[in-house]
Amino acid sequence: MSTPEPAGDSPAARPRPLIIDCDPGVDDAIALMVALNSSALDVLGITTVAGNVPLRLTEYNARRLRTLLGRPGVPVYAGCPRPMVQTLVTAEEIHGTTGLDGAELPEPDGEAAPQHAVSFLIEALSAAPEPVTLACTAPLTNLAVALIQRPEIAAGIRAVVIMGGGVNRGNITPVAEFNFYADPHAARVVFESGLPITLVPLDVTHQVLVTEKIIARIRAIGSAVSSAAADLLTYYGSMRHPALAGAPLHDPCVIAWLLRPGLFGGFPAEVRIETESVLTVGQSVVNRRRLPEGRQPVTVLDTVDSVGVFELILAHLAGAGN
Ligand code: BDR
Ligand code: CA
Repeated sequence: MSTPEPAGDSPAARPRPLIIDCDPGVDDAIALMVALNSSALDVLGITTVAGNVPLRLTEYNARRLRTLLGRPGVPVYAGCPRPMVQTLVTAEEIHGTTGLDGAELPEPDGEAAPQHAVSFLIEALSAAPEPVTLACTAPLTNLAVALIQRPEIAAGIRAVVIMGGGVNRGNITPVAEFNFYADPHAARVVFESGLPITLVPLDVTHQVLVTEKIIARIRAIGSAVSSAAADLLTYYGSMRHPALAGAPLHDPCVIAWLLRPGLFGGFPAEVRIETESVLTVGQSVVNRRRLPEGRQPVTVLDTVDSVGVFELILAHLAGAGN
């Protein structure tokens, strides 16, 4: 297992093998658009999980996006239909009843892969010729179950980049962020695994706010992908994002960090996840004064050049990113 070093910005480098574990979801959709348009990333598969909407919709949405992006060869795997312990919580009030409300998307041009996402993760991470990076933009159920079944897959993981949690805030409760709240036990398994983790918390994503001006620039690209992105973001921007000046674009920050780590700053810390308390369940407790004993700390991002992130997203939606 290596340290959680950033991907590096060199377009000449070999594409980085990546698995995206997601629950599309509008911001997951934009993350997929950027990742699948990047020549610096080799997306081995998209695994889906119940989260923003139930599993049948997240899996279906991933296939619609794959079709829209003209990438039928990227396999989509359906994973866990519910959290490890709790009952399912979803976020239709943000993403709409389909999970991707606001845009006309194509029907999928192919089925999901027959293998379960957890089996795919285990197989891909056990057999990979080089360690694989995981981009996690959803409740962490699939990865946690894979780690419980086969802890030795850690050796096949280069880095795990996770959108979730908050150092000083929550978005579904005063202290908990949706992905960790939705499956706190899974988040706990992952953060106790000793894997090399980079955490992209709300403190960063709440600085990456979609405005009408950005949406207009995306629409002006004039492609089917950019129109869909603009339509999705128009819907997403119209939903309630209390006390923010725009809609936070959480999940694309994971891909942006992989592509341009220099746009972000962070610090090493111990991160633990609350699973017991009714009041604070799902909270990520970030302790920067004490580092975990015997294993590497989590890299917690806290600053972002949001203009740079939007330029990166725009370039990739225009097909000019790398
Ligand atoms: C996270 O929750 C989901 O609604 C988003 O897709 C993102 O992954 C933000 O809290
Ligand atoms: Ca998500």
